[in-house]
Amino acid sequence: MRHILKSVILFTSLICYSSSLKILGIFPFQGKSHFIIARVFLLELARRGHDITVISYYPEKNAPQNYHDIELEKKTVPTEDTLPIKNLSYWSVIQTSLYLTTMGKENCEVLLADKRVQNLIKQKPKFDVVLVEQFNSDCALGLAYKLEAPVVGVTNHILMPWHYRRYGISYNPSYMTFHFLEGGTKPTLYQRIERVIFDVYIRMVYYLISQRPNQNSLAEYFDDIPPLENLAREIKFLLISQHFTLTGSCLLPANVIEVGGYHVANAKPLSGDIKKFVEEADAGVIYISFGSTFKVSTMEKHKMEAVLEVIAELPYRFIWRWDDVTKDKSPYTELRSDLRSLLTNKKKLYISTWLPQVDILGHPKTMAFFSHAGMGGTSEAIHFGVPVVAMPILGDQPANAASIEESGLGVQISVSNLNKENLLAAIKKVLEPGFRERVKQLNRAWHDRPMSSLDTAVYWTEYAARNSNFTFRSLAADVPLYQFYHIDVAFVFISIFGIVITACKLLFCRPKTQSIKKKRN
Ligand SMILES: *[C@@H]1O[C@H](CO)[C@@H](O)[C@H](O)[C@H]1NC(C)=O
Repeated sequence: MRHILKSVILFTSLICYSSSLKILGIFPFQGKSHFIIARVFLLELARRGHDITVISYYPEKNAPQNYHDIELEKKTVPTEDTLPIKNLSYWSVIQTSLYLTTMGKENCEVLLADKRVQNLIKQKPKFDVVLVEQFNSDCALGLAYKLEAPVVGVTNHILMPWHYRRYGISYNPSYMTFHFLEGGTKPTLYQRIERVIFDVYIRMVYYLISQRPNQNSLAEYFDDIPPLENLAREIKFLLISQHFTLTGSCLLPANVIEVGGYHVANAKPLSGDIKKFVEEADAGVIYISFGSTFKVSTMEKHKMEAVLEVIAELPYRFIWRWDDVTKDKSPYTELRSDLRSLLTNKKKLYISTWLPQVDILGHPKTMAFFSHAGMGGTSEAIHFGVPVVAMPILGDQPANAASIEESGLGVQISVSNLNKENLLAAIKKVLEPGFRERVKQLNRAWHDRPMSSLDTAVYWTEYAARNSNFTFRSLAADVPLYQFYHIDVAFVFISIFGIVITACKLLFCRPKTQSIKKKRN
């Protein structure tokens, strides 16, 4: 009996041991909105017993025993509450592209210069999987290469333009939204021209400002790193934060896995004064947030006034996330006095620098979400079935806003068109019973999956470790472009056609020319 018990214990501990993986996560970009999404996934992996090491700017405060942090030195400015809310323009797209890629270069330098990271690479512990954020730099792929571990890519948004080719996805502007630009899956000719131009431009900027300098930075520390683009093709799986119910049915290879909304936690009951504010809202609550990256106080005065006028006019209570709530500072002092008093009307408007977004969106009294259409907040809105008024500012937000509109989750308005009439019309539209019903249906379809998105993300990460000797890359990523576009085949056809035409001319046309010649004679 004892022997049986002993062997049972040994067996179960063996199973536990063998299914516990050693996982390294490398998140060298300092954007908080990025890491808070990845964090949920990393903590879930730890909760399931895997041993997690995370390189990032955001160490975990109450980390479980099997979660280890390597905190990067904050040389680069955190992106929280720094960016202005301004009109989307070509210039803002160019600025964003330069900012992201310059950061990609700096992030790599900080990552490689870190002593603890260097020690880790030197010691070369065996990792079963390395999680690498797929965003503005491929630097971390070099480290994963040194550790000889399979890589799983993680991304918090739709693909960046420079990512399509490495997964063998052919980017086609005629039916795919473009990260950075407005327009949905039925673009106008003008929008398609924009997409083609910006696609070439942004991929070039990425190569010149991020990827090539990353390659050089890696070469300063190691002498055997293959081209980063080749390493990118070795990524086993990419976990992508989108879902076809929102972004439409895309052509994705088997190793690109949609895990949209995998970070969304269950809503907890509200507490304190915000709970009172929400529960006493007879008509319901509308939640406004432009995310953690944008500074609300940078909004132009007349636009801020337009939003406040809408708040005053509608019967709902409003919750608004602000970076800065000191009301004695400009531009608040310049606001019309009736609107300024609204800012202190505790029965109408609740302003705070920090708000439990998920718990607010999950509350039954929340009627709508006025948002900048970041992918995090957008998935939270669809998760809880809250209609969205989307006002994109930059990055993937214009493309997300198009998906929000096309899926029926909400409507969009642009920063340049933000005025009282437009905002009022947009909010009224998403609150119509028919619209809300459609959002409820969408919410049901979003949740209706064979496995939850978090389980899916964990499953494919473990799968990558279990089957690391295989590659799951689409062959489309390996085919040379001339074959991908059948240029050689077309050449063969054209040559045959040419030969046939020439042969015809020689065979059938000669008698005619001869007869003409004869006539002449
Ligand atoms: C990969 O192949 C090597 C050599 O055959 C083997 O030792 C290793 O266990 C394999 N790894 C996995 C995860 O199957």
